[in-house]
Amino acid sequence: MFERYDVEKMPGHWLLARMGKRVLRPGGRELTAKMIDALSITPDDIVVEFAPGIGSTAQLIFTRKPKNYTGIDQNEEAVKHLASLSANINYSFINENITSSGLPSNSATVVVGEAVLTMQREERKEDIIVEAHRLLQSGGRYALHEIALRPDDIQDGLKDDIQRELSQEIHVNARPLTTHEWTFLLNKCGFGVKKILTNPMHLLKLSRIVRDEGVRGAARIGFNVVTTRHAFKRMIGMRNVFNKYEHHMSAISIIAVKE
Ligand SMILES: C[S@@+](CC[C@H](N)C(=O)[O-])C[C@H]1O[C@@H](n2cnc3c(N)ncnc32)[C@H](O)[C@@H]1O
Repeated sequence: MFERYDVEKMPGHWLLARMGKRVLRPGGRELTAKMIDALSITPDDIVVEFAPGIGSTAQLIFTRKPKNYTGIDQNEEAVKHLASLSANINYSFINENITSSGLPSNSATVVVGEAVLTMQREERKEDIIVEAHRLLQSGGRYALHEIALRPDDIQDGLKDDIQRELSQEIHVNARPLTTHEWTFLLNKCGFGVKKILTNPMHLLKLSRIVRDEGVRGAARIGFNVVTTRHAFKRMIGMRNVFNKYEHHMSAISIIAVKE
């Protein structure tokens, strides 16, 4: 997948996917697993996933056997790949923008979206959370998994530096919020926060890569990085900015409920 993109310019998440990385969320498999546990998905649930990407969380959700699952992703290649993940006719994928899926209001009991809000500007973050609220029935659960800045009273100058350097290296507009700001935004859009989970932002640390991808997966990624022109430089650039701001960034998952 993603062979046609230029390695020097492509968004960081597609670069990682092209190198063979399957887990593209800041808190890794560990935080996703805790988030899915906290959602307590049952065979009665109707689940919508925003931006499933290469589908590793979709597959985890399928193990909970929800009654219905719909993934919405705007990337055509990703959706073609996602369609091959399950033969269940009640599990489907829509190739659309999250905010124009055409799904009916009050139709879902669970909405999940990982690594999708951080890279949106402020108004778009709100549009997506409002869409989760529209799709959910009253009492429905919404789970996000994103990057949080810390502490809550981080200086504006430092926040701007982090946002600018992340955007330069990842080649998408990365705008993480503090825990307090994520909570504020959810409350503003009609959600009550039920649970907050965190994990270190170690997406590109070797120990996390091995835990997320296995030894063979990590070796395959390493091989692809050193044999693909420009990939090593890009990976080092991204890793350096994650390391530089390690103490001011963490992965966060929030479970919220439509009030
Ligand atoms: C960083 S990945 C997140 C993937 C997945 N959630 C994961 O954690 O592995 C970005 C994915 O989000 C999709 N995406 C980003 N913004 C979107 C939007 N507004 N509507 C639909 N898909 C979107 C992209 O097409 C891509 O597949």
